Amino acid sequence: MKLILFIGFSLVFTLKVAVAINGADLLPYLHNPEPQLQLKNRKSMDQRIRDHGYPAEKHKTITEDGYIITLFRIPYSNKLQNQDAYRPIVLLQHGLFSCSDAWILTGPENALPFILADNGFDVWFGNARGNTYSRNHTTISLKHPNFWRFSWHEIGYYDIPAMIDYAIATNGQNQKSIHYVGHSQGTTVNLVLLSSRTEYNAKMKTVHLFAPVAFMSNMNDKLVRTLAPYLGHTNVYSALFGSQEFVPHNDLFMLLAYNACGSESILLGLCTSISYMLEGEETNTNRTALPLLAETHPAGASTDQICHYMQEQQSGYFRRFDFGSSKNMKMYGQSTPPDYTVDQITAELHLWYSDNDDLAAVVDVEKLADLLPNREMHHVEDPTWAHGDFTMAMEAPTVINEPVIDIMLDYEQRHGNER
Ligand SMILES: *[C@@H]1O[C@H](CO)[C@@H](O)[C@H](O)[C@H]1NC(C)=O
Ligand SMILES: *[C@@H]1O[C@H](CO)[C@@H](O)[C@H](O)[C@H]1NC(C)=O
Repeated sequence: MKLILFIGFSLVFTLKVAVAINGADLLPYLHNPEPQLQLKNRKSMDQRIRDHGYPAEKHKTITEDGYIITLFRIPYSNKLQNQDAYRPIVLLQHGLFSCSDAWILTGPENALPFILADNGFDVWFGNARGNTYSRNHTTISLKHPNFWRFSWHEIGYYDIPAMIDYAIATNGQNQKSIHYVGHSQGTTVNLVLLSSRTEYNAKMKTVHLFAPVAFMSNMNDKLVRTLAPYLGHTNVYSALFGSQEFVPHNDLFMLLAYNACGSESILLGLCTSISYMLEGEETNTNRTALPLLAETHPAGASTDQICHYMQEQQSGYFRRFDFGSSKNMKMYGQSTPPDYTVDQITAELHLWYSDNDDLAAVVDVEKLADLLPNREMHHVEDPTWAHGDFTMAMEAPTVINEPVIDIMLDYEQRHGNER
């Protein structure tokens, strides 16, 4: 399946790159703000949820800076008929290149959201600005480069709080706080929010970070390690690459990968496979769910999200976007970007991590944990457990979903009256 995805995503690009290498002219690869992502014939997530016999809703909310964000919701469970009962809110936030559909690929028997609904929760799904479902703005056109001037900082600072406040208001049960589950970038944005707008700590009951990504010096991913020396600094490459919609066949990205990795590793899918970043190793993957992954992904992102991660990989810091010293001076009043003050995070964080995760290395997760005042570590014992396994593994129901839901239910029992 990885191969099929790889061919789907990459064959065309490889051909393009072959041409590009001969031409060796970077100018044609300047910003192309035209949205190029194929979104036709994609079934909307609410329809997929209904197909599984669960009620589904689609909601929109507007962030402080004007992005129109789509949320999906499983408001209750048909099995429980609990629409009038108290249903604690849980918000699920997807990773990079992804969208809310990533949570439901393994279906009603196994995917976390359905089990949450059947345990009485009001289940909400966020979609970060720029992805399949969140491609609109009150004043800026999707085709304008300004639409794409954001990294995961803005997703954490604007999108996530807008989602939380909207879910709380719409739930209507006078809940003051929520449970949060994030995967990969969904963890980064939570850490951004809780360290930058500390009042949101009080809106968290329990927070579950699957494959937490903050510090990145030790990550093992070949693609990132290859490209970060180019794109993780303010230079001509990042200037050409930055602030546009990332499409998997981004020409400059492929050109760099091609030069750095060589054509052979590209053809073998060793160096540039986005599917690999989404799905990780295949050892534990539910293969039946892979066609659903291919139908719904990749789901759109800004190239600045990638640049920001590559900066972290290069610098070893978990900090704001590096615009170069003069613009940093203007933005932050200092020549280097300020750190995210994760030591200020008081919310109850649960870090779920594993040995075979190429994007969230154990050493880096532990470095983060050392700074967090209120966290609990959940190391996955299976040594083959990879980055994508948190949502895609056959064993996710027992290894991840059950213990996560137990922690939430336990919280509800202890604090039920405070809500
Ligand atoms: C694997 O995914 C398929 C497709 O969604 C689903 O029907 C099946 O129940 C899943 N099995 C497990 C163990 O995740
Ligand atoms: C984008 O949002 C505006 C409201 O700000 C709305 O008028 C327009 O129809 C939306 N476009 C799409 C494609 O949904």
